[in-house]
Amino acid sequence: MLEIQNLKAGFGKKEILHGINLAIPGHKITAIVGQSGCGKTTLLKSMNRILEEEGGYIDGSVLLKGADCKRMPKEMLRKKIGMVFQQPTVFPCSIEKNLSYVLKYHGLRDKSAIRQEIEACMKKAKLYDEVKNHMKTPAKNLSGGQKQRLAIARSLCAKPDMLVLDEPCSALDLKNTIAIEKTMLELKEQYTLVIVTHNLAQARRIADWVVFMDRGGVLEVTKKDMFFEHPSSELAREQLSYI
Ligand SMILES: Nc1ncnc2c1ncn2[C@@H]1O[C@H](COP(=O)(O)OP(=O)(O)OP(=O)(O)O)[C@@H](O)[C@H]1O
Ligand SMILES: [Mg+2]
Repeated sequence: MLEIQNLKAGFGKKEILHGINLAIPGHKITAIVGQSGCGKTTLLKSMNRILEEEGGYIDGSVLLKGADCKRMPKEMLRKKIGMVFQQPTVFPCSIEKNLSYVLKYHGLRDKSAIRQEIEACMKKAKLYDEVKNHMKTPAKNLSGGQKQRLAIARSLCAKPDMLVLDEPCSALDLKNTIAIEKTMLELKEQYTLVIVTHNLAQARRIADWVVFMDRGGVLEVTKKDMFFEHPSSELAREQLSYI
């Protein structure tokens, strides 16, 4: 699905990612874990090249279904690889407009098609039942967990191939965390998912594959059970001994 080849990335003279090779399988949840500062966010932001918008550089190849991401127009790349951040961003308008904006941006004009698509994306993000009767209220009034699910619904409106989520649950309580985990487990039927998480128990609950990073490199890429039962690196063994 996504092939990363000899990816180097950084800011100015500072190289953060030192030649990463990694294959992200389709229709699975891949969890990226590793200590703070090891480059997880930089890796996600290299996938859809947002890093360049933030003054970073990217070297090497990222291939999405065989197509070189460097050669794709950035809007198309970001439509295909949607990103959800730790702090959900909602636009300063109604819940409905947060979603219809994206649909219109991508060319949908028919009002009833827009309504249907909004409903479908909100259902996928497990937000619909809670907010269906106040779609016109400002999105800023939603709770943190609802905002995060709105951010997911909004990413889905762009009809992505992949969703990459950077610690989407770290500011949420258990109930909202579970709602997002359930959402992800259902979404993988249709989409490819990558989640950065500090919560190893969360990776254990939902991931199919685990990527363990250290100091700008990848130490292990293994099936989830293998990672938790027989980690190959000393560092992973040490970290797992705390859970
Ligand atoms: N805009 C920037 N300019 C310069 N250096 C940066 C910038 N953003 C991140 N870095 C550096 O890149 C390194 C990796 O940061 P990154 O945010 O990718 O780590 P992370 O694994 O996501 O950490 P965390 O778990 O704390 O979110 C860090 O040393 C950080 O200081
Ligand atoms: Mg980070």
